[in-house]
Amino acid sequence: RRRRPVNDASPSGAAEAAVEALDAADARAELARLQREIAHHDDLYHNRGAPEIDDAAYDALRRRNEAIERRFPELKRADSPSERVGAPVAGGFRKVRHSAPMLSLANAFDEADVREFAARIRRFLDLPAEAPVALVAEPKIDGLSASLRYEDGALAVGVTRGDGVEGEDVTANLRTVAGVPARLAGAPPAVLEVRGEVYMTRSDFAALNAAREEAGEAPYANPRNAAAGGLRQLDPAAAAARRLRFFGYAWGEASEALGETLMEARARLAAFGFVLNAPARRCETIAEATAFHARIEAGRAGFDFETDGVVYKVDRLDWQARLGAVSRSPRWAVAHKFKAEEAVTILEAITVQVGRTGALTPVARLAPIAVGGVTVARATLHNEDEIARKDIREGDTVVVRRAGDVIPQVVSVDKDKRPGGSKPFAFPDRCPVCGARAAREEGGVVRRCVGGLTCGAQAVERLRHFVARDAFDMEGLGMRQIEAFWRDALVREPADLFRLKDRAGDIAKREGWGETSARNLMEAIEARRSIPLERFVFALGIPRIGRATARLLARHYGSLDALCAAAGAARDSESEAWRGLTAIDGIGPKAAADLVGFFAERRNAAAVAALAREVEIEAPEPPAASGSLAGKTVVFTGKLETMGRAEAKAMAQAAGAKVVGSVSKKTDYIVAGADAGSKLSKARELGVKTLAEAEWRELAGPRRAAER
Ligand code: IVH
Repeated sequence: RRRRPVNDASPSGAAEAAVEALDAADARAELARLQREIAHHDDLYHNRGAPEIDDAAYDALRRRNEAIERRFPELKRADSPSERVGAPVAGGFRKVRHSAPMLSLANAFDEADVREFAARIRRFLDLPAEAPVALVAEPKIDGLSASLRYEDGALAVGVTRGDGVEGEDVTANLRTVAGVPARLAGAPPAVLEVRGEVYMTRSDFAALNAAREEAGEAPYANPRNAAAGGLRQLDPAAAAARRLRFFGYAWGEASEALGETLMEARARLAAFGFVLNAPARRCETIAEATAFHARIEAGRAGFDFETDGVVYKVDRLDWQARLGAVSRSPRWAVAHKFKAEEAVTILEAITVQVGRTGALTPVARLAPIAVGGVTVARATLHNEDEIARKDIREGDTVVVRRAGDVIPQVVSVDKDKRPGGSKPFAFPDRCPVCGARAAREEGGVVRRCVGGLTCGAQAVERLRHFVARDAFDMEGLGMRQIEAFWRDALVREPADLFRLKDRAGDIAKREGWGETSARNLMEAIEARRSIPLERFVFALGIPRIGRATARLLARHYGSLDALCAAAGAARDSESEAWRGLTAIDGIGPKAAADLVGFFAERRNAAAVAALAREVEIEAPEPPAASGSLAGKTVVFTGKLETMGRAEAKAMAQAAGAKVVGSVSKKTDYIVAGADAGSKLSKARELGVKTLAEAEWRELAGPRRAAER
């Protein structure tokens, strides 16, 4: 029997019979299928790091399994998934820290975005508005990035991207990948880290899936997932069987320059034996670049690899070095995405979910449909106004769009196909989970449950976020377990997890648990008693404070106490604390306001304090402390001649200094350009050290680029 691709598909979709309708024979077969399916997803998630379905879909599988077991207790299998929590982690790979972070790319969706990208570069480099900025354009490959370190021309270690800072050592597998030379040809630098994309061709992917279906295994949803699975095989022979390939497109550490331009560097990388993304073209103008984009987009079906856009990169490498990176993307590159793929299907039902912050989010349940190589069974409907504006109703025929990795969306409705008697969707004004009022914010589009942490959905979602992989990473705590613990008041807030240790006996006796799983859970929790500050901050689930922002906050404030104090003081938007917070490169006023609002809520502050008493928070390594201007405060004034303000500011931050807008006694330096005015006179009055632009360059530069 063939199994359909499972990516995104709702396992509890309309295709499955209701539990009530099953007879004993059906139930037995269904339990067997669920056991296999859940084991398969456990393996993908825990051992291969390449899940094919989201948590909600996975939890639905487990819930269905349990519902059937409740109806037919005598059919419960000895190897039932309800007896196990999570899956054993396989041997795993050694973690390796990247010498320079592996960044991702900002996106551009149209020509205006690309022009703004070029304009930003000119502003940063302080070039005239019409100055030519030559770009190299090449296809963006949809695979996984990897970094290959060569020492004296021999491959020493190959690492996955991981979180960009730290990846996994998959050298043995990378050695089996076509396009990864074991030894470099020609005269390479003594140390060279080449970065690029590991991918699978469409034809190899089709062959792999045919073989898997033949063997009764679930097919992969797309080549990217198949490549990810291949790279994380524990047996290099199994990785080799995937026939993966590598395209080089960038480099990290290099003991000697590869040229003055990207085109020169590409030629050298090719001479060392790498296959580079192709076709590539040097474009003098934006018009030329977008014409190249249009040509690749029109021909994309003809490539034997999946491509989702064109990457433009500044050709001059000295400019790349000056431009550096902001947050997690280089300023010198951008991905110009192709138009998203669309498909038509039936919207079977609209359900309303309650998120971590109480927002009611309408979700469309769709008849499963393939869109751009992935099966889609759910799509976001954004909010109440959006449903009304598009007049989306249950039973409608809809156009669904998938753009990259984001959640699919319902684009439009085909009203000609609307079944008779359909009614507009009535959006609930009460929380579907706790029944509390769901109110709209003044001028906002989001309806929020006012139940706060008394709303089970919000509390559970926050806890779920808290234990997630990028947060406290506690294995063995899925949706089901958290819901049950919350319901029975075992865990109401994060700190409670660390107080479970005295309850291991009770947990072992609970339904679905046993001695071993309870012990494993306790170990997983105890392993997190020590946690880096950035994870701690991310785990709190503050709106708009994602991983990257949490890292910025951790680095900037250095300790939880300092962060809490700043968040408290910043409630006054005139305060130095607020200015300091919003001056952090990468933190905008909205994220800052959410941070302040979070700590202003007494219950949140109390929950954080309780948690802080349970764990030991590891201070971040302050990158600033290594800078030549660590801890110094700088003010810029007047017009600089050789660089823009943004570059000056980036230079200061890279050297560990803080840039502020006004002069005070605490200012260490004032850098004065042409026509400096009142700030300079004030600085002189206060005796602040004044620097000319050239002196500043001398003091703060030269700067190491985040990624070359
Ligand atoms: S340049 C910023 N060029 O896309 C580091 N990236 O969405 C240099 N990717 O993380 C990236 N094709 O894994 C670059 N021709 C290409 C690419 C490419 C695919 C990947 C890369 C990056 C991701 C960002």
